[in-house]
Amino acid sequence: MAGRSKTSPEASGPASAASAAGGPLHVAIVMDGNGRWAQKRGLPRTLGHRAGVEALRRTVAAAPDLGVRWLTVYGFSTENWSRPAAEVRELMALPKRYFDSDLKRLEREGVRVRAVGRREGLAPDLVALLDEAEQRTAHNDRFFLQIAFNYGGQADIADAARRLAEAAAAGRLDPATITESVFAGSLSTAGLPLPDLIIRPSGEQRLSNFLLWEAAYAELVFQDVLWPDYDAASLADAITAFRSRDRRFGGAVSDDVLVAG
Ligand code: IPE
Ligand code: IPE
Ligand code: MG
Repeated sequence: MAGRSKTSPEASGPASAASAAGGPLHVAIVMDGNGRWAQKRGLPRTLGHRAGVEALRRTVAAAPDLGVRWLTVYGFSTENWSRPAAEVRELMALPKRYFDSDLKRLEREGVRVRAVGRREGLAPDLVALLDEAEQRTAHNDRFFLQIAFNYGGQADIADAARRLAEAAAAGRLDPATITESVFAGSLSTAGLPLPDLIIRPSGEQRLSNFLLWEAAYAELVFQDVLWPDYDAASLADAITAFRSRDRRFGGAVSDDVLVAG
């Protein structure tokens, strides 16, 4: 089906990344359930978040072997600021916890890192860390890890709209030229294909402001496992579920129907 399976890292239009081999090439995960994992063990929620970093490590290690090329993970939402200050502090410390132990390996193993979401509002040392992770891995292209941190789908859409409006007001952009692909190119996720599969563990069945624009034709898989227990087998299960889906992108049921007319 022409136009449906762009695999270029530059693709940002409505096409998704899933290859003829079945995909998914771009997987996005809401890393949810840390608090409940800790509560079940009588532990403070902070320990659940720390265990969640281990799950991220396992998942990043497993994804390439399962054919995934781009992985986007949701680490902190624009709404998570409403949590108690001590928990927000712990969540803000997680990128450092992860990169302190893993950045060298990511760099060495050909993983390119990008952080999306608002840098404004983050502490300067955290911004510096995210910038450093991006810069040190900018030359890599074996695997792409996109971390959504201080990210909200609505915020990202509003920020993109503001940037386009500013360009139009300054005479640099003709509003008549704003199409879906131009708009997508202004989102913080621009340059990556749209996610084929969005996974939410923890039993919740909602997006919670994750990739609202990009989710247009993503397959959604909800799993009961709590994020700190997530592993290669969990990801393989989600991918198996994805492969059983019939993706139509608004078209007809099969290619035969489309060419028959
Ligand atoms: C995910 O786990 C971490 C973030 C939201 C940042 P939660 O802390 O939401 O865990 P639950 O949903 O309360 O179990
Ligand atoms: C979504 O989980 C945000 C992240 C996992 C980073 P939440 O736990 O914040 O979502 P809700 O509150 O259950 O919708
Ligand atoms: Mg949660």
